[in-house]
Amino acid sequence: MGELKVLILEDVQYDAELMEYEMRRESLKFLSRRVETEEDFIRELNDFKPDLILADHSLPHFDGVSALEITKKRSPHTPFIFVSGKIGNEFAVDMLKNGAKDYVFKNNLTKLAPAIKRAITERDELEELINSRNQLKEALEEKEMFLKEIHHRVKNNLMIISNLLELQSYYIKDKADFNVFRDSKTRADSMALIHEKLYQSTNLKKIDFGEYIHSLAIDIFDSYNIAPDRIKLVIDVEEIMLDINTAIPLGLIVNELLTNSLKYAFPEDKNGIITIIFSKTDDIFTLIIKDNGIGLKPGIDFKNTESLGLELVNNLTRQIDGNVELDYDDGTEFRITFKELEYKGIS
Ligand SMILES: Nc1ncnc2c1ncn2[C@@H]1O[C@H](COP(=O)(O)OP(=O)(O)OP(=O)(O)O)[C@@H](O)[C@H]1O
Ligand SMILES: [Mg+2]
Repeated sequence: MGELKVLILEDVQYDAELMEYEMRRESLKFLSRRVETEEDFIRELNDFKPDLILADHSLPHFDGVSALEITKKRSPHTPFIFVSGKIGNEFAVDMLKNGAKDYVFKNNLTKLAPAIKRAITERDELEELINSRNQLKEALEEKEMFLKEIHHRVKNNLMIISNLLELQSYYIKDKADFNVFRDSKTRADSMALIHEKLYQSTNLKKIDFGEYIHSLAIDIFDSYNIAPDRIKLVIDVEEIMLDINTAIPLGLIVNELLTNSLKYAFPEDKNGIITIIFSKTDDIFTLIIKDNGIGLKPGIDFKNTESLGLELVNNLTRQIDGNVELDYDDGTEFRITFKELEYKGIS
């Protein structure tokens, strides 16, 4: 224990000297100041910045109980010990409940030094705890900033790719080739949107996937120039938080199936409805994307296609350990079910 700064609230100088004598006898190194008025007490609390306060209960112009209240407000971690002749047991217990560290009777001053040592040790432990908590908080904040920054950069890079694809598509004369570029662009966009939602999310590792579906669908309708009165979009999604490892593949799946419905379900500017449902029951997630359009051509085996879109859907569903089903009853309905995986590793 280093040198302690001890503030003594005591009107009788001889009593203060007795306390100092006891501390010296127990080899406590200290520097002390004695005060007896409220004004002096507050001043020394600010200027002297004591490590410890020893206070008498009643003084001619001030009292220990008020001093305790002042200390709790201005310097809550400074241990406060009553040293008094007149403390009744009940009052002493009340003061302990009220935040005093200890009480010592003036006729039993041998208890003073052990009480001081205990109080200082406890204060040190508390300070250490507070310090390590603050360090943890700082490290966490730093990590969050870092993660945000990364998501931001990944998003920006994906947007650069998206913009490059768009710029290049202007040079393409062939309609089918043009569409290939546009589809690649919306794939990059749908991933960029996940990273955007991630750095906006307080959690940084999970996004509200229902909200993501809303934003993504609006973006896709925009980039395919669909008039909202021609193809109606019905979205019925719950607020469900998904980990980035699930959100990325699932986002791409939504992108593929939604663009397919827009491109093929309603040829010759026919009207129609596209419905997206996302829900969770027990631990099973269900994503349904359906349209009431012309349906897949007979003979198309969606699990074995040469085309990239549906193959992506199959691969990405496998990646999240999910299952795809197709229903042809009225138009096309894809139903993806999966359980959220536990991801280990860096988080
Ligand atoms: N909702 C739908 N309604 C009608 N036909 C569809 C629908 N979805 C897919 N198809 C048919 O299935 C085919 C395969 O789709 P898929 O997404 O695999 O390839 P694509 O859209 O032609 O090309 P891309 O690789 O760019 O996605 C489409 O060409 C289309 O004929
Ligand atoms: Mg497709």
